[in-house]
Amino acid sequence: MDMNSTKGFPSTFMWGGATAANQYEGAWNADGKKASTADMMTGGTHTIPRRISRYIEEGVHYPSHEAVDFYHRYREDIELFAEMGFTCFRMSIAWSRIFPNGDDAEPNEAGLRFYDNVFAELNKHGIEPIVTISHYEAPFALTEKFNGWASRETIDCYVRYCKTLFERYKGTVKYWITFNEINSLVVPAGAFLAGALLVDDSGLFNNTAVDSTQLRFQALHHQLVASARAVKLAHEIDPEFRVGCMINYSCGYGSTCRPEDMLTALQKDQMNNMLCGDVHVRGEYPEFAENYFERNGIRIHMEDGDKETLKQGRVDFYSFSYYKSHVVGTRPEGDETPGNVFGGFKNPYLKANDWGWQIDPVGLRYVLNHVYDRYRIPVMVVENGLGAVDTVEADGSIQDTYRIDFLRDHIEQMREAVRDGVNLIAYTAWGCIDIVSASTGEMAKRYGFVYVDKDNDGKGTLKRSKKKSFDWYKKVIASNGADLD
Ligand code: BG6
Repeated sequence: MDMNSTKGFPSTFMWGGATAANQYEGAWNADGKKASTADMMTGGTHTIPRRISRYIEEGVHYPSHEAVDFYHRYREDIELFAEMGFTCFRMSIAWSRIFPNGDDAEPNEAGLRFYDNVFAELNKHGIEPIVTISHYEAPFALTEKFNGWASRETIDCYVRYCKTLFERYKGTVKYWITFNEINSLVVPAGAFLAGALLVDDSGLFNNTAVDSTQLRFQALHHQLVASARAVKLAHEIDPEFRVGCMINYSCGYGSTCRPEDMLTALQKDQMNNMLCGDVHVRGEYPEFAENYFERNGIRIHMEDGDKETLKQGRVDFYSFSYYKSHVVGTRPEGDETPGNVFGGFKNPYLKANDWGWQIDPVGLRYVLNHVYDRYRIPVMVVENGLGAVDTVEADGSIQDTYRIDFLRDHIEQMREAVRDGVNLIAYTAWGCIDIVSASTGEMAKRYGFVYVDKDNDGKGTLKRSKKKSFDWYKKVIASNGADLD
């Protein structure tokens, strides 16, 4: 252990930002790329949900199609990240840029070359890439053909995609994350994220069709097997590779100290968070999950060798996203709060952002201790941040002090967690440059240190400008988290 860890962040700590291809790159059909599942999602708002269309509809706004055009502006953006002093950058690869149909005989060279260029640029600035292999997207052709992760065929397509990436970027990329927020499949919203759709009476894909827990948990099993195969393969191709899981951490406190409420909190924690973490880190389904499946009539179809595969594909690090917490158990009616896929009840001790996500820095320390106690492997916080509406002042500046306050309070709690003994190795603030919101498709929900001139309807110059938080984060990184003022 680094001796400095008793005082602050270890000297090897990685600081940076995080993005996802479908929310950032744009160029959705350029240079051989074809539609991904994310490319079929229309824009929405805080109150109007996004919609999934089977075909690209004329005159409809699809936020991922242009996003904020990292595809053509990566040099400029990486330059800005370097100026802030990033030592790492979490990004994802768009699967359908590499395998446009998911099951093509050969990968798309132009797609591979794009990421060669991005990695070269990061390398030039001494920024370590942390690469998510599938961040809430898959080639839409796999949905058409196999209903995405509902089918086992998708496992082989994914593993071949991984093999292509591992061989191509060996020596360039060290850190890989197999799936973004894999546990989102535990709730209905996750089905589309896995490209697994239900068919309604008219025979069309329809995300409002009745939810099927059976389909979701089977799709989740396929992803867990695919992840394990990828981990094993990565270690064979390059023993230096470090491969991690990524959990959307749903922090739910018991609503009262009634034993029943505490038990509910424990059970939600098990199913929402620990189920996927346990399979990834320990290599097997926990007993509570087996019981849950039995009680709910869910039958996971496993093939010979699946259990063995899960054992062999245990991850090297545990990463998670953390934005908010909520309360579970008994509460009065009408007291609900939305959240990042997982919602719950309001906590009277917390405030919320404009989208109702409750702000809870101490919860981050709680979660860090909780997961490290359980898994004892290196931990990364790979998403955290404040979605807020920013105002451009008459002089062109953006005074996002609310964002600085949010991040400062969370980083302070991470520092406490490091003092507690948690082996925390990296922090990547979400949406370090403004990108499309995943839940609503809006641009107005901004997280960045860098402002991008674009509105909810897709209009704007895409010009980048620094917010007040830009210089603040630069100072945080330069002081290795010691100077948070
Ligand atoms: C996480 C996702 O769930 O939350 C990101 O991994 C997403 O893709 C982030 O952008 C923040 O959510 P939103 O809806 O505010 O963009």
